[in-house]
Amino acid sequence: MIRVNPHYSKLQASYLFSAIAKRMAEFQASHPDSDLIKLGIGDVTHALPAACTEAMHKAVDEMGCDATFRGYGPEQGYDFLREAIALNDFAARGIAVQADEVFVSDGAKCDTANIQELFAQDARIAVPDPVYPVYVDTNVMAGRTGEVQDERYDGLVYLDSTEDNHYVPTPPAQPVDLIYLCFPNNPTGATATHAQLKTWVDYAHEHQALILFDAAYEAFVRDDSLPRSIYEIEGADEVAIEFRSFSKTAGFTGTRCAYTVVPKACRAYDAEGNPQELHALWNRRHTTKFNGVSYPVQRAAEAVFSAAGQAQITTVNDGYLGNAALIREKISALGYALVGGENSPYIWIKTGIDSWDFFDRLLNDAAVVTTPGAGFGSCGQGYIRISAFNDRSKVEEAMQRIAAVLGNR
Ligand code: MLT
Repeated sequence: MIRVNPHYSKLQASYLFSAIAKRMAEFQASHPDSDLIKLGIGDVTHALPAACTEAMHKAVDEMGCDATFRGYGPEQGYDFLREAIALNDFAARGIAVQADEVFVSDGAKCDTANIQELFAQDARIAVPDPVYPVYVDTNVMAGRTGEVQDERYDGLVYLDSTEDNHYVPTPPAQPVDLIYLCFPNNPTGATATHAQLKTWVDYAHEHQALILFDAAYEAFVRDDSLPRSIYEIEGADEVAIEFRSFSKTAGFTGTRCAYTVVPKACRAYDAEGNPQELHALWNRRHTTKFNGVSYPVQRAAEAVFSAAGQAQITTVNDGYLGNAALIREKISALGYALVGGENSPYIWIKTGIDSWDFFDRLLNDAAVVTTPGAGFGSCGQGYIRISAFNDRSKVEEAMQRIAAVLGNR
């Protein structure tokens, strides 16, 4: 008898964004004429940069001609893209990441989900709360947790990210082995300083732990004093893997391209305590289970680093940050405390009432979709997240509708 993975039954309801999509669909079915504005899932709305579509067109033409056609590419990514990443995202900022430490993939979501299979089943795992649900759910699926008790999985160490610590958790008192961090943060939009990241790097060295650092939103950092990579912290290459994505950086949510940096210095340990190179393990996993991102998409990603590509993504991302500034201003004016939106496309708003009730109120009365904070963990209860990814006119309209609904609270 074929049996299902028993750990799936521990998962809470459906994946957060599927649950929201379901409520949205129900609302649309019962209000077919309403013009719903989506500020929920962080999905970009502006077209790909022209530099990327031009490169993609050219690559498609190459694929249509025997002389230039390409079949399977290297699973880790073409050298042209790995070298462009190492040069532009790291060397240009004084960070020593080698091209062969970059693994190109089809998404940071998949990579942050897949990476955990490199680690022992009994690894002690720390996750922030609130948290991007993928980090938690994939460990539940893998059987690294117990059941949920009081909205938290047994066996996980939760790092509360609250008003009190300005949404940047400090290392736990107890030893953990694997630590998920994300800055600029999803969902809170909070950022961490060099000094704050250094406490984590020091902790990881002290406990022979590993940091999984999700930097998917680094392109929105405008404050030059803030780190954009964990490798800006000395010694981080020995204790941290970093995830990056073209999704939000360059509008690739529907195009799919991302990358993971696994430095050759980065170690985990076998049962006898002998260090093992994670680079070799991830290379083994990647080459076994993944066949690479398509050639035209990798050429499009390479074009992000051209002068034209850089100018184009800066214009678009500045536009999203302009939306974020508007959301901050309008929601603050309604008397709500908030964080984020300055070096991040997400704004985290204290609602004072149940997250899902607030979400439903904005959906039903303003026809605006947000994300209930409780969906990101128990510390998210009483918050909602608003995403700045949309057109300016839609964000303006959403803010007017929200003010009309909440102005008289
Ligand atoms: C989000 O809204 O949190 C993100 O869009 C989800 C993702 O990148 O998978």
